[in-house]
Amino acid sequence: MCGIVGYLGNRQAVPVLLDGLRRLEYRGYDSAGVAIVNPQGLAVVRAVGKLDNLTQATTDEPLVGCLGIGHTRWATHGRPNQRNAHPHRSGPIAVVHNGIIENHLELKAQLIASGVKFESDTDTEIVAHLVDQHWSKLTDVGKAEERLLQAVQLSLAQLRGAYALAILCEEAPDALIVAKNASPLVLGIGNEEVICASDIPALLNYTRDVIFLEDGEVALLTRGAVNIKDSSGNAVERSPQRIAWSPVQAEKGGYKHFMLKEIFEQPRAIEDTLRGRFSLETGEVVASELGIPVEIARNVDRVYFVACGTSYHASLAGRHWIEQLARLPSQAELASEVRYRAPVFTERDLIVAVSQSGETADTLAAVQSAQAQGAKVLALTNVLDSAIARIADGAFYTHAGPEIGVASTKAFTTQLVAMLLLATFLVQEREVLSKDASKKILGDLVEVPSLMRRCLSIRSEVQDVAKRWHQTEHMLFLGRGLGFPLALEGALKLKEISYAHAEGYAAGEMKHGPIALIDEEMPVVVIAPQDSNYEKTLSNLQEVKARDGQVLAIATEGDQQMKSLTEDIMVIPNCSELVMPLLASVPLQLLAYYTADFKGTDVDQPRNLAKTVTVE
Ligand code: F6R
Repeated sequence: MCGIVGYLGNRQAVPVLLDGLRRLEYRGYDSAGVAIVNPQGLAVVRAVGKLDNLTQATTDEPLVGCLGIGHTRWATHGRPNQRNAHPHRSGPIAVVHNGIIENHLELKAQLIASGVKFESDTDTEIVAHLVDQHWSKLTDVGKAEERLLQAVQLSLAQLRGAYALAILCEEAPDALIVAKNASPLVLGIGNEEVICASDIPALLNYTRDVIFLEDGEVALLTRGAVNIKDSSGNAVERSPQRIAWSPVQAEKGGYKHFMLKEIFEQPRAIEDTLRGRFSLETGEVVASELGIPVEIARNVDRVYFVACGTSYHASLAGRHWIEQLARLPSQAELASEVRYRAPVFTERDLIVAVSQSGETADTLAAVQSAQAQGAKVLALTNVLDSAIARIADGAFYTHAGPEIGVASTKAFTTQLVAMLLLATFLVQEREVLSKDASKKILGDLVEVPSLMRRCLSIRSEVQDVAKRWHQTEHMLFLGRGLGFPLALEGALKLKEISYAHAEGYAAGEMKHGPIALIDEEMPVVVIAPQDSNYEKTLSNLQEVKARDGQVLAIATEGDQQMKSLTEDIMVIPNCSELVMPLLASVPLQLLAYYTADFKGTDVDQPRNLAKTVTVE
């Protein structure tokens, strides 16, 4: 999600920035730009679309200078166009930013009141104006570098949210300031040169000695020195570490595949999707963030999800939460089926079109058919301004960041998070539950990232299970309640990347057919956390064992009974029943991943599959 590069040294900055940005292309982007400082002042060039467009623009308007910042933008606030592309400028200051400034509306109002004119719709432009205002007031600070550092520190104190920032000033030609909170930033230390970037691949052509900036830190970079301060302004000593990765390994963050990297990015993606969307103190979800006008939320009679594939599985969980929490009738339908039925929609239906890409042809067609009958449509997507977001009445964006692996992982779990927020919002507007009940749901959500980090820490146990079972040609997945969509999703993940035949079933359906498949050759993954369905799911598991079936269990940590039933056990931490699907997704994803990896299939680009399905 956005790439940042900054350079200060003795080389021309533009080629270094463009090269760095190219190595960050995997993060996804829709526009790009650079800002350069030279004796003539500050020059900014931006272009929509691919980096080739920016390269052409910098050839048409050559930029000379050894200090610069560059950016690839993956739009989150404001359409992907030239005026929203970074760098953003205010007076002598230019800024590039990755992240989301949570209090941007409040700061923007204050800046407008003080006479500032905005040129973009971004949250980032606020940072440029704040730094400019402080810079203008700090005239008594003699050294330009120190003045810029102080202006940035004062601005950071006003910001809430996630940011990696690189900032320069045309009146401080020997300084590059960087800051980080929750978004990544790494500094490369060369000989008389420094380069900063969102990720290591952008640095490796220049140096292998890097310093990772920590949350809350700000650093003044000059040609010969890196001066890091913590959030209280105290100096931080940190020595560079040497990176041994190849450029390709580095792009994958040292992971073997993008899919594995994306599985591990989930806690961060969930934090980004939650950030700024509610207040834990009041238990209120912020309506403007969800893209649904309050009157629609209050008057809706039914919530109808349409989606394909993994997004459909997320929708099945969404339906469950809307019914259980908001007490509204809800349905989840395959978009490819809806469009060829004669579904009945009314003006009091809310259609939630769930699509990570926002471009899926079947989902788009289902939306059009619902709109033709007067239903209101909310797009739930990961891509700003995508086709479905554009035609919908409102859009609710997950902030998973670009997903490169074809098999959806972090896009799925952030969809689940968004659906729980949507259900909580409907609860709030329809006054179905008390404020305390809403606070409890939001509190459960806030805990998910740290619980998920614990799930990720058992990767080697899941790897062992996959090692024992990777040669199987068939696998059955069973789950009940919220475990059912997970059973479908676990089976889909396994089949799409390992090419094993897998089926997901509602555990209660076992006796109605699939039980005939059970024999000593058939591994059955049972999603059996200690929730309200536990006893019933356990009975299904016993039925499998009674027929010599092999059970692989997703179970709650410390479940001794489960331990006595199978050695193939993948545990998740004890958690609220509502958020269980978020945690249980992790071992299912890892099981599919390691099975495929042991088999040696093309994990990131499995045969016959495309990431965005724009044909029916
Ligand atoms: C599976 C997967 C697909 C997509 C489906 C819908 O891992 O990614 O099943 O979920 O093609 O795509 P979107 O969500 O972009 O509409």
